[in-house]
Amino acid sequence: MAFERIAVLGLGTMGHGIAQIFASNGHPVRCYDSAARARDTLKERIRNNMDQKARLGLSPGPDPEAVLGRIEVVSELEPSVQEADFVVEAVREDLPTKKDLFKRLEDLVSGETILASNTSTFPMTEMSPGLRRPQRTLVTHWFNPPHIIPLVEVVPGHETSEETVGRTMDLLQRNGKLAIRLHKEVLGFLVNRIQAAVFREIWDLVEQGVATPEQVDQAVSASIGLRLAAAGPFEIADFAGLDITGHVFGHLLKEISSSRSLPPAVDRLVKEGRYGVKSGRGIYDYTPERIEERQSRRDRLFHQLVDLLHSDRSA
Ligand SMILES: NC(=O)c1ccc[n+]([C@@H]2O[C@H](COP(=O)([O-])OP(=O)(O)OC[C@H]3O[C@@H](n4cnc5c(N)ncnc54)[C@H](O)[C@@H]3O)[C@@H](O)[C@H]2O)c1
Repeated sequence: MAFERIAVLGLGTMGHGIAQIFASNGHPVRCYDSAARARDTLKERIRNNMDQKARLGLSPGPDPEAVLGRIEVVSELEPSVQEADFVVEAVREDLPTKKDLFKRLEDLVSGETILASNTSTFPMTEMSPGLRRPQRTLVTHWFNPPHIIPLVEVVPGHETSEETVGRTMDLLQRNGKLAIRLHKEVLGFLVNRIQAAVFREIWDLVEQGVATPEQVDQAVSASIGLRLAAAGPFEIADFAGLDITGHVFGHLLKEISSSRSLPPAVDRLVKEGRYGVKSGRGIYDYTPERIEERQSRRDRLFHQLVDLLHSDRSA
């Protein structure tokens, strides 16, 4: 295959799972992170992801030894990307950091190498000014946990070439991903914009005292969450009838939140250090046991749903 060697930069929540997918599908993967801890724990975290399927009583994926054998962790940027055909960066979400990284990468890779960003928000066109080969850059936006969730949004910048898009789509599809190419470069891409609209409304409902976060979580999971896993929102609207949904939503649109700022409660929680599971407290309180229990349950259900609905995908 002409398009084999992968480099993954930034080995945190996203990077380690992205490396796992490529290695699971036969690619040699070189991995780099500026933090020694992320490098030193990479293989252990990937092994843990792979063992998890067996622990959860699900069908095992590829042989972990073979997968880990394809991964090489390097402590410098240069050797990690030197021979790569495809580089994906998953370093922290900070525009100057990402721009600086892309500039450095251009001097280290061949003219054929594709440089991809896993940014959640920044369009490639914002990260590429000053690059000599912007045609070889694009966004590939994976979803957490990246070794389980099938979708990758592919978002070319204004100067990205069709060849770069085509080679990237092909690579992702060969790695079991559902790659969806966006036709226009917009901030936040597709899915995060939809999630932001939901996020704004759930906080507004809680702040108005309509329901508690527990009730919102239960209600959404047991209704639209379940429905959307099986059919998309446009298809659901067609089955409900556009006359009916049009009527209902026409009334509601005047009522629901149109706020353009972060819900005040989110700001307050962050100031109190309530970041979520990473600080043991967020919207809910967590003990280490509760985190383990909720995460195992979540991952088991994700795996089962992927097996059920996307059996041709993921590793
Ligand atoms: N977490 C998510 O749910 C999610 C989902 C989709 C996309 N993303 C995007 O993926 C990227 C990574 O997010 P994450 O959640 O994995 O972050 P993370 O904080 O878990 O990991 C980032 C890693 O990058 C390393 N790093 C920072 N600067 C670096 C540099 N200059 N060179 C090399 N390594 C560097 C850090 O040491 C860290 O290990 C971000 O752009 C984020 O917006 C995150």
